[in-house]
Amino acid sequence: MSLWARFKNTTLYKSIYRNEYPDTPRNQVLVILNSVVLHLHPVKVPRRAVRMSYTWGLGGLSLLMFLILTVTGVWLMFYYVPAVPDAYESMKLLETNVIFGPFARNLHRWAAHGMVIAVWLHMTRVFYTGSYKPPREFNWVIGVVLFLVTVLLSFTGYLLPWDQLAYWAIQVGSNMAKVSPVIGTYVQRALLGGFDIGPATLVRWYTLHVILLPLACIVLMAMHFWRIRKDGGISTPIPYDEDEDQDENPPPGGDEPNK
Ligand code: HEM
Repeated sequence: MSLWARFKNTTLYKSIYRNEYPDTPRNQVLVILNSVVLHLHPVKVPRRAVRMSYTWGLGGLSLLMFLILTVTGVWLMFYYVPAVPDAYESMKLLETNVIFGPFARNLHRWAAHGMVIAVWLHMTRVFYTGSYKPPREFNWVIGVVLFLVTVLLSFTGYLLPWDQLAYWAIQVGSNMAKVSPVIGTYVQRALLGGFDIGPATLVRWYTLHVILLPLACIVLMAMHFWRIRKDGGISTPIPYDEDEDQDENPPPGGDEPNK
């Protein structure tokens, strides 16, 4: 018996992998169902729904941008000081004294632009394919909130370098909030942490940028992906053609939509 075959018989191996090599439809299904990561995917999707020319991979691209932002964001947090006047200095030091510092910062910034663009295009795709219609209307609403959170993440990050560009952008943004009817003044005061831009504003926006908004984004994305499953998978461009997806050996569950 080979070493590998003997290892596969050990309790250690069996405690991690519970199924055989996925070379039969049954084992392929079991691999998906028994893996914490893979089980997030449906076992079966109509071939047409995952055609690149239908989704353009834009939802996945939005997620990828978010993951890049999380990794580079944590990287930047090792060097950034969220206080006045150290914030500006810490960004300058990152640019000049930290190995790969400018790379981390630029990657974070470009991914932020990329996420806004990808989410916007994804929303446009969903609109033009009519995928917001029942039963996906609630997922559209979750999506709208996700779009709002994405824009807010971008805007709150803009203030953090505490340079002239950031300072005046916040001046403009908070003045825009101020002119909203009835609650305008309160919203502006909440955003600034006082009557004017100052140290409290920086702490407030930093907390929003690194904790509250990313957490909201993660929770909303989990709901978004779960709803895609519950709504019967990604919408199909034309009525579902069972013959096209017929396997010679259909996995257990047959042609039931993935719920
Ligand atoms: C952080 C932002 C977002 C992420 C990571 C995300 C991710 C995804 C993914 C991976 C899919 C699968 C299909 C595809 O890739 O196109 C999807 C589908 C969908 N998304 Fe998003 N999405 C986001 C924002 C939005 C927004 C802003 C809207 C609309 C306002 C939206 C509405 C929908 C709907 C309705 C579906 C189902 C589409 C179908 O069945 O064809 N999503 N999303």
